Amino acid sequence: MASQQKNVGILAMEIYFPPTCIQQEVLEVHDEVSKGKYTIGLGQDCMAFCTEVEDVISMSLTAVTSLLQKYKIDPKQIGRLEVGSETVIDKSKSIKTFLMQVFEESGNTDIEGVDSTNACYGGTAALLNCVNWVESNSWDGRYGLVVCTDSAVYAKGPARPTGGAAAIAMLIGPDAPIAFESKFRASHMSHAYDFYKPNLASEYPVVDGKLSQTCYLMALDSCYKRFCHKYEKLEGKQFSVADGDYFVFHSPYNKLVQKSFARLLFNDYLRNASFIDAAAKEKLAPFSTLTGDESYQSRDLEKATQQAAKPLYDVKVQPTTLIPKQVGNMYTASLYAALASLLHNKHNSLAGQRVVMFSYGSGLTATIFSFHLRDGQHPFSLSNIVSVMNVDKKLKSRHEFPPEKFVETMKLMEHRYGAKDFVTSKDCSLLAPGTYYLTEVDSMYRRFYAKKAVGAMTENRSLANGH
Ligand code: ACO
Repeated sequence: MASQQKNVGILAMEIYFPPTCIQQEVLEVHDEVSKGKYTIGLGQDCMAFCTEVEDVISMSLTAVTSLLQKYKIDPKQIGRLEVGSETVIDKSKSIKTFLMQVFEESGNTDIEGVDSTNACYGGTAALLNCVNWVESNSWDGRYGLVVCTDSAVYAKGPARPTGGAAAIAMLIGPDAPIAFESKFRASHMSHAYDFYKPNLASEYPVVDGKLSQTCYLMALDSCYKRFCHKYEKLEGKQFSVADGDYFVFHSPYNKLVQKSFARLLFNDYLRNASFIDAAAKEKLAPFSTLTGDESYQSRDLEKATQQAAKPLYDVKVQPTTLIPKQVGNMYTASLYAALASLLHNKHNSLAGQRVVMFSYGSGLTATIFSFHLRDGQHPFSLSNIVSVMNVDKKLKSRHEFPPEKFVETMKLMEHRYGAKDFVTSKDCSLLAPGTYYLTEVDSMYRRFYAKKAVGAMTENRSLANGH
């Protein structure tokens, strides 16, 4: 049944990532790996991380309050708040309930939604929930708000350079500039032990790195085939990468994004898509008889598809890679940070374009869906979203840590994870005005935050339970 609401999707966005980061080439030297392993091998430039005064709650408080303030949204206008995160701070109390402090202040406690968790997919689950709500009979006319917030940290070893941290807040409603094409959606969900967090005493995941890459690509193939099938059934014509103007992927690290787009091209080749030219056909022909399993293991196929896909990758994917390459894997926020990069790079020429999104969460859950972009009306316009996010300024005002200080921070965070009865340094000198930070975890594990004052004359303000 068609929805009563038209063009439901993302009206507004705000992104926050910690100002503390480490350059990947500096980390290569420190980790004594070969030069280029992280920068070319993984395709990453820099990695953001939380220090002891930041966590997924402080980052999401910052993103949410900044979005409400910059778009002049009265907190009473929010009717649903959904959070996607895989960073466990509490096994029962949702991150959403921490964020309720922002809304309680204005007397609004009538807000549906809790947290969604499945590795990097929770943000997409939250987004689909909110969009479904606005499109449903239960919608009460207020906005939905989706928050993706994660701190991705790995134990010392090959996965460590694939960390990152960020929070993204997205306002959901009808007549959106980033509108869902709701009928074109396809998922693939199954059971796998590729990346999981069974040890509740540690923030670090258990990772089978190679398996996680194969699972990601298998899920992509499966979603893409179903997506194409749905499109063809509804539109009566074939779908291929030629029908999407931009392709946005969950980005654990950029090399996997390059491989993923190449994989879509290989799918199109196997389906005889008309846009594949003779030169690409010649390159890919030797691989046409590989079984599915063989194709995931073939390094030659990977090389050939990446070469054949490169010109299209530069146009349809490269503009989406800025923030993921600079900040790292932001887990649930990664896909939406890639979308934010596209808006940042191309906002003047995006109206009327189709953006195809691939969301992946280990374990595993995956969905492909698409957006139809429109200019929108101020303040909910593509250009205003770009100026509110102010990505350039946020990237330029970061502070690079030397590797020793990064490792020391990771050690302190390991020690603090799940701990109680401590106060932080409360050092917010590196944070921008308006940023929330952690001040204390008391003897009952209750967490307290303060906001760095915006003007020189105002005091830093504490949040939570009268502190
Ligand atoms: N110069 C250029 N490239 C290099 C160099 C060098 N000096 N050294 C290595 N490389 C290349 C390798 O050839 C390889 O490239 P390829 O993938 O094109 O073959 C790449 O760098 C990675 O090196 P590997 O030795 O294959 O892998 P490594 O042991 O470093 O681990 C991995 C990489 C598996 C991604 C690891 O970082 C990891 O486990 N990360 C976390 C899991 C993850 O992100 N999975 C993705 C999906 S699940 C999720 O989103 C969490």
